Amino acid sequence: GDLHVANRKIAPDGWKRSAVLAGKSLATVDIPGPLITANRGDRLKINVIDELSDTSMVRATSIHWHGIFQKGTNWADGVASVTQCPIIPGESFLYNFLVPEPGTYWYHSHISVQYCDGLRGPLVIYDPEDPYKGEYDVDDESTVLTIADWYHRTARDILATQAAPAPNATLINGKGRYPENPTAPFSVINVEHGKRYRFRLISMSCDPSHTFSIDGHNFTIIETDGQYTQPHTVTSIFLHAGQRYSIILHANQKIGNYWIRASPDDGPVGYENGINSAILRYSGSPPSEPQPSTHPTPTGPGSELKEYDLAPLFSPQAPGRPRPGGADVTLDITLGFALPASFLMNGVQWKTPSVPVLLQMLSGQRHPKSLVPNGLVYLIPKGAIVEVNLHGGDAPGGPHPFHLHGHAFSVVKHGDIDVYNFQNPVRRDVTYVSTGNLTTIRFTTNNTGPWFLHCHKDFHLEDGLAAVLAEDIEDVKEEVVPPDEWKNLCPTYEEFSQTY
Ligand code: C2O
Repeated sequence: GDLHVANRKIAPDGWKRSAVLAGKSLATVDIPGPLITANRGDRLKINVIDELSDTSMVRATSIHWHGIFQKGTNWADGVASVTQCPIIPGESFLYNFLVPEPGTYWYHSHISVQYCDGLRGPLVIYDPEDPYKGEYDVDDESTVLTIADWYHRTARDILATQAAPAPNATLINGKGRYPENPTAPFSVINVEHGKRYRFRLISMSCDPSHTFSIDGHNFTIIETDGQYTQPHTVTSIFLHAGQRYSIILHANQKIGNYWIRASPDDGPVGYENGINSAILRYSGSPPSEPQPSTHPTPTGPGSELKEYDLAPLFSPQAPGRPRPGGADVTLDITLGFALPASFLMNGVQWKTPSVPVLLQMLSGQRHPKSLVPNGLVYLIPKGAIVEVNLHGGDAPGGPHPFHLHGHAFSVVKHGDIDVYNFQNPVRRDVTYVSTGNLTTIRFTTNNTGPWFLHCHKDFHLEDGLAAVLAEDIEDVKEEVVPPDEWKNLCPTYEEFSQTY
């Protein structure tokens, strides 16, 4: 189907501003963008049409399908300057790819900081053979919960003038409040007493991590980032930008209204005046606001999710030999920072290439310095077990949620504990590293093409916290064959990379 991208003035938290929005028709563009669904094994064909007109924000676009592996279709990964030339206003581009892996995903703009201005939406791949099918009654569009930060200024403006992004509001399913406006409407999630719901929790954050909870309820995690997990019951999740969870909530409490909470670690914290909140409403309850103190969320040992509490349900072992360095390829990447606003990887700032990395690879370039400015590209062979050590170094603004395109990875060591787990570490596509800490991931190369590895705080990415892993460069011409439309995006690229 079509996905229209256009500017509209909206006031999701009561403050009116111009935004970048997506819709299945031009008349229905919204925040978040429409829910896109498919079954595992389906082919998605999405024609993205750029109808952007507001010159105060980026007008070119590209859409990344976050968490979809794009095996053999690296050209459809949607990263402007890495896997494609941007789509320019008045043009469209057909993304055409398979979705063999079920789970909870999302899509967002991947050019500059455009998704912070609104261009983000949920993507769910259902599984007819879900091993947890008997554990819940409802899993549909009514149970998708998106968490996003929201700003009263454009992202470009914030980058140019502010030291830290400091969001004005949190949007849950596109609705929220900023502290000075206690009247904007809440999102309401309706449930029936006695039923079990599979909620699809998606962080579409551009910057903060959010502490998510539902008053008076615990819930059981069964999936993270497209990977089934062993069931694990908690009452709160510290959710980093780009991460997703499926949680089963049993609506077994007293009939009533309950607060859904998502408090950010940057921006307005707490819940006063109804900020950072939505409502869970049992059918039969009055359409009123919950009383804050009647249903506190249980706390105590084990109530809060630690990422190392999660274990994959299937094939839980990390690839490779169980010791640090026990992989075919080991990459050490240390994060850093230089004033006034440059994030560094191994002392070097990512700079956007003027010709997409995939196009360079297809035309025979092999040298890091000719593939990207500053040479921030790591060549990795096919069929290899790769270990990446992410050293937090002295980079400020952590925790840094790191995302790798084209793969899920096993997180064999987490930033905040000094223990390796090769037996059953969590497998996902966004993990995090904090200042001074080490986080280690492992994966096996089986997917040809350039894959972006970057901090999912979009302002950090824009300031340079990124690199490319160029996988199986020898076979790229045979394994990745873009359609003609893909090449047609490119002639105007130079012109537009200067203009935008
Ligand atoms: Cu969710 Cu590189 O992106």
